[in-house]
Amino acid sequence: MALQDFIAELDSLAADAQSAFSGAGDRDALEAARVEFLGAKAGRLKAVQKGMGTVDSGDKPAAGQKFNAVKKAIEESFEAASSRLASAGSSVNQDDFDVTLPGTPLRIGRLHPITQTIERMKEIMGRLGFSAVEGPEIEDDRHNFEALNIPLSHPARDPLDNFYLSTATKTAKAGAGPDGKPLLLRSQTSTVQIRVMESTPPPVRIVSLGRVYRPDTADATHYPMFHQIEGLLVDKGVTMADLKSVLRMFCQSYYKREAGHEEEVHIRFRPSFFPFTEPSVEVDINWQGGWMEIGGAGMVDPNVLRAVGYDPEEVTGFAFGMGVERIAMRQHNITDIRDLYTNDVRFLAQF
Ligand code: DAH
Repeated sequence: MALQDFIAELDSLAADAQSAFSGAGDRDALEAARVEFLGAKAGRLKAVQKGMGTVDSGDKPAAGQKFNAVKKAIEESFEAASSRLASAGSSVNQDDFDVTLPGTPLRIGRLHPITQTIERMKEIMGRLGFSAVEGPEIEDDRHNFEALNIPLSHPARDPLDNFYLSTATKTAKAGAGPDGKPLLLRSQTSTVQIRVMESTPPPVRIVSLGRVYRPDTADATHYPMFHQIEGLLVDKGVTMADLKSVLRMFCQSYYKREAGHEEEVHIRFRPSFFPFTEPSVEVDINWQGGWMEIGGAGMVDPNVLRAVGYDPEEVTGFAFGMGVERIAMRQHNITDIRDLYTNDVRFLAQF
């Protein structure tokens, strides 16, 4: 067989194979074409290959080269056809798509009940003219105790009642503040009163809501981390009457329309003691025929005003502090504080 004839045969085979592969409409047709052209026993390429034996021996190398090139081209066009069918098979057939089916509903997230309570408190206090400020959760001795008139010997500083970062007091080690005294996770938001007054001249009118930490064992009513709302108003001529009316207006707004609070809101003060207020009171609100304690309050102690450079002869002020969880739990009838922090979505999704 002449070399030209062999080459011509290969070229026409390649053209046939290519059109058969690209014309195959489905996997079965493509497989049939594969067997026809590339079949190992009776494929047409195999048949043409047999002719190579009859080519003149001097032309054999050229014939072999041509054969290999054509074989490769046919195989490649088979692969191309095969991947064309594979990708076509995975796309959605427009006719099978039912546009009247309901969509896949998205699950709607919501704010944590404590966050909701905090936002609501901020909003009410904002309407009473108090701006919301934040303070650090890691505090030093001055802001958590000293400037709040809590002396060195006071039991509130007890290591058993506070999360100190380090108990090293003599040397300034890691965990100690600028004064060499140990830093701690703040045990109350009253710290923010000091931070605000240190940096702002009177008058001030702020609330601060945030986390506080105490090493309590978790039970139904205790958790080592909880939230407080702190309020502070300092100006000329502020009195205990202002404190009572602000708290009453706050409670009136907050508890209005709450379940269990159909009557008018009343506030009751009971004498108490806090180092940073004088006089100091516990605050109760009427609740389902009785009284419920909601926090502590009082007139800012002159020592506290002096500690931040205010003149107690010039200005006076009141302060109050309340537990956020307590108020939220009462409102939603939550009986175990731990439920708030287990992060079980089935529980949290109720609020
Ligand atoms: N800091 C107090 C506590 O954690 C709460 C408190 C009481 C805050 C009286 C005040 C206040 O501002 O005047 O128990």
